[in-house]
Amino acid sequence: MTKQTRVATGVAGLDEMLSGGLVPGSTMLVRGAPGCGKTSLGLQFLVHGARHNDPGLFISFEEFPASIHRDAESLGWNLAELEEAGQLHLMFTTPQILLDSLASPQSALSRLMLDGGIQRVVLDSITHFARLTDDPVKLRAIYNTIINGLKREGVTSLLLGEESRTPDPRQERGKLSYVVDGIIMLRYVEVESAMQRAIVVLKMRGSDHAKEIRGAEIRKGGMVVTDVFEGRENILSGISHRTTTAR
Ligand SMILES: Nc1ncnc2c1ncn2[C@@H]1O[C@H](COP(=O)(O)OP(=O)(O)OP(=O)(O)O)[C@@H](O)[C@H]1O
Ligand SMILES: [Mg+2]
Repeated sequence: MTKQTRVATGVAGLDEMLSGGLVPGSTMLVRGAPGCGKTSLGLQFLVHGARHNDPGLFISFEEFPASIHRDAESLGWNLAELEEAGQLHLMFTTPQILLDSLASPQSALSRLMLDGGIQRVVLDSITHFARLTDDPVKLRAIYNTIINGLKREGVTSLLLGEESRTPDPRQERGKLSYVVDGIIMLRYVEVESAMQRAIVVLKMRGSDHAKEIRGAEIRKGGMVVTDVFEGRENILSGISHRTTTAR
């Protein structure tokens, strides 16, 4: 049997952690605190696709296209070029309009995805939907509409999710972690009085994945995943300390 092809994120090291890349047609949640690199990772995923004839769509509720262009410029990517080539589309909209579009297979969004041959979608951010309702049951239905809509279009997507600095998983309304196919978590960690970035794959349906926590760096050219945090504990708590060895 032929091995299922993967959708490479283009982030060196992350694809390795994902056993080659994302599962085609899957919906991954990328969660993390402000500034930890969610938008950068999302753009990198789309730029990588755009350069390999795998057109993408970036949907933003907060950042205007001009600001996204600027962010990308600082990472070394010229988005305008990719847009002109028809390999990238930037969309600025509201959560309600997007929700209505994804609920209907006849929407303008659906036509754009079909006509543009869109294979990859990044949604920045999924957190905005939590503001549409206070009811956790309704919120879960909203998440399902989004995910089912993206699956109907056959695209592979990253849903970017904002996290407060002190997350409490019990507080997660709508159970987003349960409805997505996988979760990539980005974190800031304090190591010897300096802030470093960490990345871990927490869940990936239908695939094996690395369980270790690795370092991540953002620089011109995008995100690079580095070594495993060896000999350190409590990385995910945000403040790590050296593992003490018993004598
Ligand atoms: N060229 C660059 N070199 C080094 N670091 C960079 C570069 N460009 C961006 N960064 C880093 O990336 C960070 C921004 O990351 P990004 O916008 O992807 O985070 P985010 O998780 O989307 O944040 P937010 O929650 O605020 O949307 C900046 O704070 C900066 O530290
Ligand atoms: Mg962002």
